[in-house]
Amino acid sequence: MLPGYEETKNQVLICPSILSADFTALAESVAKIEQAADIIHVDVMDGHYVPNMSFGMPIVSALARCSKLPLDVHLMIENPIDWIDAFAKAGADSIVIHAEATIHLQRGLQMIRDAGCTPGVALNPGTPLSAIEEVLPFVDLVLLMTVNPGYGGQDYIPGMTTKIRRMREILDQQKNPIHLQIDGGLKSGNIKENVAAGANMIVAGSAVFGHPDPAEAIRELKRCAR
Ligand code: DX5
Ligand code: ZN
Repeated sequence: MLPGYEETKNQVLICPSILSADFTALAESVAKIEQAADIIHVDVMDGHYVPNMSFGMPIVSALARCSKLPLDVHLMIENPIDWIDAFAKAGADSIVIHAEATIHLQRGLQMIRDAGCTPGVALNPGTPLSAIEEVLPFVDLVLLMTVNPGYGGQDYIPGMTTKIRRMREILDQQKNPIHLQIDGGLKSGNIKENVAAGANMIVAGSAVFGHPDPAEAIRELKRCAR
């Protein structure tokens, strides 16, 4: 499980995306961020739901063996329900499924909770917030994509800040506390406005692992978020 929104809402949680790390030296890449990061974000892609492939359970279990940080598994795959138990067993702390990829969304979210993980639901930039309104009572995390998923290193889509603000207003009306995570193109130059709009979990791939000192990049993102 991830730490809850209520316990952490006065902090900005930085979630480096392992997709941008050096896979020839995964344990060393993790060691560089272990002290500075809050959560490790793990992007799973199947070449169907998104036009790219990344990795699956073996990398999640390798990360679980070389890090004490919570593992946040972002499933960019078709039929994510079929894979929930496998990722939970591999060591996921949270599992985030896309509303666009899941026909029985509420069932999937309940399966994630039953597997002992934090349930999260994700939306692509072009999908309206109304797509997840009915499942908000069943989630602990909402992920709003700020790029079209599939690749690290893309540019933040302008205008997403308004969507983030509207989402936070809706989440604040829910009885259950819910993290608002954002993902894609986030850097020191655009993080502040998005945190002010209500995001409290920031995924950053290239901004962290593209920096000569990834821990310093995380500290810089935290400073910029204030
Ligand atoms: C995009 C992934 C992101 C990506 C972020 O499909 O979901 O998590 O790794 O990378 P940056 O921060 O480089 O945009
Ligand atoms: Zn992601």
